[in-house]
Amino acid sequence: MAFAVKENISWVGKVDWELRSFHGKEYSTHRGSSYNSYLVRDTKTALIDTVWGPFSREFVARLKREISLDEIDFVIANHAESDHSGALPELMRNIPEVPIYCTSNGVDSLKGHYHQDWNFQVVKTGDKLSLGSKELIFIEAPMLHWPDSMMCYLTGDNVLFSNDAFGQHIATEMMYNDLVDQAELFQEAIKYYANILTPFSKLVDKKIKDVLALNVPVDMICPSHGVIWRDDPLQIVEKYVEWANTYAENQITIAYDTMWNGTRRMAEAIAHGIKAADPAVTVKLYNVARSDKNDVITEIFKSKAVLIGSPTVNKGILSAAAAILEEIKGLRFQNKKAAAFGCYGWSGEAIAVISKRLKEGGFQVLNDGIMEKWNPNSEGIDNCIRFGNDVALATRQ
Ligand code: FEO
Repeated sequence: MAFAVKENISWVGKVDWELRSFHGKEYSTHRGSSYNSYLVRDTKTALIDTVWGPFSREFVARLKREISLDEIDFVIANHAESDHSGALPELMRNIPEVPIYCTSNGVDSLKGHYHQDWNFQVVKTGDKLSLGSKELIFIEAPMLHWPDSMMCYLTGDNVLFSNDAFGQHIATEMMYNDLVDQAELFQEAIKYYANILTPFSKLVDKKIKDVLALNVPVDMICPSHGVIWRDDPLQIVEKYVEWANTYAENQITIAYDTMWNGTRRMAEAIAHGIKAADPAVTVKLYNVARSDKNDVITEIFKSKAVLIGSPTVNKGILSAAAAILEEIKGLRFQNKKAAAFGCYGWSGEAIAVISKRLKEGGFQVLNDGIMEKWNPNSEGIDNCIRFGNDVALATRQ
């Protein structure tokens, strides 16, 4: 169902209650998501973004109940990724001549996905589109989340349509930030940032400064996923500034995999040692083979240090440990310390493999790591506790 965001702005998107993974299987969506599309009416009418392809027929059918499609004057494609552009083919079959406003990279991406010569109108930062009494002002936002991404700002109503930025994967009928559980909201917002936007933190910081420098009032931020920020909308902008600037809480995350519990016992002893040396630090342990990887990445994002553990297998490490290392290398975390640990039976390459990958991922590796032969005895456990002590002292704030 459509609902009125403002008298002249209708939400016409899709709440996807069933979604449990996004980007294929790369991102867990425990709370579902939504694909937000907005209809802005003035003398002229603009449709901002659409929904994911599987919902395209439903989207267009519902849109027809809201407005006669020939009354849509402009389509705004803030972002070409399929979750927002997926209904364009179905929509444009109905209104093939209507111009689609997007960035030049947007043309490339949309043509690359749909192979259609729609009536593309390329816009750049500062370009304006008059709707009659109000204007849409376009703001390019490359890499928030793809090279094509942009935002647009509606004058008069002071609404920023931010697309992926400031979004959260939440399915809810309570469409405003002040109506939902705040812990759930910010958990999903930080998870979104940690897993999707971390590599682009410098661009996020710069783009926010660019937007704030426009010195325009922002009464509402309408992202393309999750709830609309209407209560103190700049609070999420302030959070993004924090997250974009080498964010770390007083937390150490220990992420490991284990075959016969030797590396798990090491992880627990190291955690004990950290806590003994620095009672103020939050220590969290995750067996990465049994945990949701996106939740673990969110905890690593929040941490000042991460310890990665794996036993040695076939002169390497277990696949779940390798997978989390691959993920965090790509996310390019900044200003975080790290170390390796793991047990072994004969050759013992794991900690060197882990340390190398941590360095490649931009982590400051604290030491050579610790390994224990077979399942650690009481002396081995004491070694791990001392190792935890040392990590706590080396990372104490
Ligand atoms: Fe929600 Fe980058 O798409």
